[in-house]
Amino acid sequence: MAGKMWAGRFTKEVDERVNDFNSSISFDARMYRQDIEGSIAHATMLGECGIIDMDESRKIIEGLKGILADIDSGKLQFDPAAEDVHMFVEAELTARLGDTGKRLHTARSRNDQVALDIRMNLKAETLEIIELVKSLEKTIVSIAEKHLTTVMPGYTHLQRAQPITFAHHLMAYANMLLRDLGRLRDCYKRMNVMPLGSGALASTTYPIDRQRVCDILGFDEITQNSLDGVSDRDFCIELISAISVLMMHLSRFSEEIIMWCSWEFKFIELDDAYATGSSIMPQKKNPDVTELIRGKTGRVYGDLNTLLVMMKGIPLAYNKDMQEDKEAVFDAIDTVKLCLKTFDPMLATMTVLPENMRAAAAKGFINATDCADYLVKKGMPFRDAYKITGTLVHTCIEKGCTLETLPLEEYKKLTDNFDEDVYEAISLETCVMQRKAAGGPAPESVKAQIEYVKARI
Ligand code: ARG
Repeated sequence: MAGKMWAGRFTKEVDERVNDFNSSISFDARMYRQDIEGSIAHATMLGECGIIDMDESRKIIEGLKGILADIDSGKLQFDPAAEDVHMFVEAELTARLGDTGKRLHTARSRNDQVALDIRMNLKAETLEIIELVKSLEKTIVSIAEKHLTTVMPGYTHLQRAQPITFAHHLMAYANMLLRDLGRLRDCYKRMNVMPLGSGALASTTYPIDRQRVCDILGFDEITQNSLDGVSDRDFCIELISAISVLMMHLSRFSEEIIMWCSWEFKFIELDDAYATGSSIMPQKKNPDVTELIRGKTGRVYGDLNTLLVMMKGIPLAYNKDMQEDKEAVFDAIDTVKLCLKTFDPMLATMTVLPENMRAAAAKGFINATDCADYLVKKGMPFRDAYKITGTLVHTCIEKGCTLETLPLEEYKKLTDNFDEDVYEAISLETCVMQRKAAGGPAPESVKAQIEYVKARI
């Protein structure tokens, strides 16, 4: 692309190195659809307001539609020498229409143009991410529905703590993802504001109709201040924050899956299509997908930090620093989409091993709280019951048995309150079934949790 459009002001060509350094087309070309749709809306409004000739407005719109179709079909390739997608489309339009093409940029700056394009692009991406999260929610719920009575140990400090069910554990993640959906929907609201007409920074002297452009493009409302309209990127930061929290949840879930498919746990088995082997150890089956999600979470946090630091010191209004917004926000979007698209089917195809969960639940004295509660129900103060149960656990460890297999006379040595019915009270099934408080692991309670999530996705 020889000869810049601003060449009139300059006495020299831009140095090749500055050209390359300045260029953003390699990463902003992905906004071509939004750029062209935005330009069509702008040209429509310019014609309707009599700012350009109606006939020229129509030609521009047809020209832009042709460019869009040619990019879509692969007939038109992006010119890496164009500084950015906005210049590329405008130059192509002018090449096709001559002087008429040169009228498109009337009453507009690349500053409000890029502010529009990125909002339109992120709106579309946010909706896609929301759909992917909803799909993952459905997968989680459908597995939970099959495991309402699958007993497993619940952990604190990664020590076996109290019995829960696999459904209960899964629904914890369903609730986290529900909040992620809320955050994404909230981000969408604030990016759904139309900045075109802000001009370079101080709007324009032309009699434009911003509301008309807003309506054509389907935004909720127009931005209220032209300086803010061109120089705000907090909607990008909000989106990466929401994605970061979502990645944090996927990463925790991934970490648990990594543990669960180890021989030490063996609570689940990944489908062969979602695991990989080792180049040297023939026995290996590695959970690479989940490890990569855990790793990529760090990368998304990096994207968030990039934007926070990039934005914090720049004066109003537009500064070229802000061109750096795109690679970071696009990287976070691409990463989370890739993770969700892989994690969802991996989860859907994994095999759950209830016997191993149950066997783990049978060890580790996870019914000790229930044993103490048994005494409390017989009238003993909780602290005394707690102490007696601690002594019983100690006895079991010395004898190499469990609370279920410890003979009744050992119980009775500590207090007469113990009877044969203690065994029923401390059975894992009882422990789970009795925890029917709202939010608890009892099947009826988890069913209510499932209905709650279903109603909100
Ligand atoms: N490529 C630029 C960006 O992404 C477009 C806006 C350029 N505006 C300017 N005044 N140089 O930010």
